[in-house]
Amino acid sequence: MVLMGWVHSQRDHGGVTFIDLRDRSGLVQIVCNPQVSPAAHNQAKALRAEFVVAAQGHLERRSADTINPNLPTGEVELVVDELRILNPSRTPPFPIEDETEPTENTRLRYRYLDLRRPKMFENLRLRHRLAKIVRDYLDTEGFLEIETPILTRSTPEGARDYLVPSRVNPGGFFALPQSPQLFKQLLMVSSVDKYFQIVRCFRDEDLRADRQPEFTQIDVEMSFVRPDDIFGLIEGMAVRLCREVKGFEPPTPFLRLPYAEAMARYGTDKPDIRFGLELQELTELFKNTDIKVFRDVVAGGGVVRGIVVPKAGFSRKEIDDLTPLAISFGAKGLAWFRMTASGWQSPLAKFVGDQDKHAIETALDLHEGDLVVIVADAEPVVCDVLSRLRLHLGDALGLIPKEEFNFLWVTDFPLLEYDAEAQRYTAMHHPFTSPHDSDLGLLDTEPGKARAFAYDLVLNGVELGGGSIRIHRQDIQQKMFGLLGIDEVEAQEKFGFLMEALSYGAPPHGGIALGFDRLAMLFAGADSLREVIAFPKTAKAVCLMTNAPGQVDTKQLRELSIKVDGQAPRDVR
Ligand code: AMO
Ligand code: AMP
Repeated sequence: MVLMGWVHSQRDHGGVTFIDLRDRSGLVQIVCNPQVSPAAHNQAKALRAEFVVAAQGHLERRSADTINPNLPTGEVELVVDELRILNPSRTPPFPIEDETEPTENTRLRYRYLDLRRPKMFENLRLRHRLAKIVRDYLDTEGFLEIETPILTRSTPEGARDYLVPSRVNPGGFFALPQSPQLFKQLLMVSSVDKYFQIVRCFRDEDLRADRQPEFTQIDVEMSFVRPDDIFGLIEGMAVRLCREVKGFEPPTPFLRLPYAEAMARYGTDKPDIRFGLELQELTELFKNTDIKVFRDVVAGGGVVRGIVVPKAGFSRKEIDDLTPLAISFGAKGLAWFRMTASGWQSPLAKFVGDQDKHAIETALDLHEGDLVVIVADAEPVVCDVLSRLRLHLGDALGLIPKEEFNFLWVTDFPLLEYDAEAQRYTAMHHPFTSPHDSDLGLLDTEPGKARAFAYDLVLNGVELGGGSIRIHRQDIQQKMFGLLGIDEVEAQEKFGFLMEALSYGAPPHGGIALGFDRLAMLFAGADSLREVIAFPKTAKAVCLMTNAPGQVDTKQLRELSIKVDGQAPRDVR
């Protein structure tokens, strides 16, 4: 038998050399004994970590006292009679093992070595399995996987575009797709009916742990459907994934929460519902108290909301530390009170009369030891701060069952969002999302109140996917563009092909896209997308291994009719 792989480690024991040989499936011990083969034993002495070798020999059962119970191959070893070095290796910048974690920059710089670590290989394998299950499932459901262009026009998904200059059309630019949104809709006009694609998307936006500039979507579109059909399809997919990869069956149908309720109860449209600590509306309850900040905020149209932390058991310092945290989340301050045997413990105590205190205690069903933290501000600020404080408190108090997978549909998003700065509406999801049938009339009267047939899939507080039923009638699409301040000329120039297609018998249709990297991240139990992408980019959108983006030659730029402002490109003529 011949085993090939990498030298993981090497030990010399009384003249016999033991080598742990590693490949993607794990480790096995090989033994180079001078009495079996003096040549092989000699070779073995020259080996260093990460040398690539071929070892020929025969497997032997280890004696009882040398069995390694921690290794799946721990009961055997390969006794070597010929050893060949296929390639030596420089000393790697970090040991190839899960236990020592080099800095992330080092890992990304030497990604090919980082991926040799078992944990990372496991993540690659997991990602492969997830994709395979998704493909098989959608195939069984009658979906066709169809590729759409990478060199295309801008699709408005809310980020900046990555642009690609066209040499043969000087001054012309392709945009890399932020998603295949328009193409999948056009495929519905083509009567494809059931489309999917596991597809790369590109967005130039502020990056975070759960955002990469290029990422992968499981993109789905169907004709003649209502939201329930999409929910059913995606729930079936999620159940398959959980069953086959995690070995459990999530209960279906998934909980559904209208957007307005999600915002009221959790302050966010992607709540982690694995634990409580829901937000409490306190504006009315504090209306008549003497707390000046609250009064001012309410007079200015703001709200007062809080979170009840039952029997928090925090020290005074721990409570005080919540204030700078809330401020870092965007609050102006954090008010609080704690229920003690002798009444309210709080900087606010003296500004709240006994009657109000009693009313508040009754309304919130407070008991001794309970802590209430309160933020007063404009509603969006209060929601944002409290939703983040809720996650912090849930984590700090160990209330989040980390192993649980809790899927949630957030439904009935508003169609439009008002951008106060630009003084116009923007699409909450994207401009092709259909309003609720019953809210069509509102487009002419109060467009801000119209609800959309748009939904998000949320898993453990992460936005896993989003989709909608689309506008399939040209007149409504035209009206929507109008509301978004896109006039007919601009609509024609940017989306003429869509408008035209809608006029040729476009069927009602809708779909969804799931973030595949996010799915893999959650299934891997990782806290960054970079753990589940083979060659990811940093938060600054740089690849540390290839040093992309790089500079290009002036000749190349000239061919593309591009002049770079600022730093001069490298001239290699
Ligand atoms: P949306 O913009 O909501 O919808 O994107 C769908 C899902 O893609 C994932 N995602 C990302 N993942 C990693 N890095 C990013 N920068 C990133 N941006 C988005 C998220 C998100 O929920 N065309 C519509 C879908 C539709 O309407 O069918 C779309 O792209 O998990
Ligand atoms: P100040 O009047 O700024 O001294 O604040 C008095 C108390 O109210 C302090 O505990 C502040 O942290 C808190 N506070 C100030 N502004 C707010 C606010 N907008 N919401 C909640 N609490 C606040």
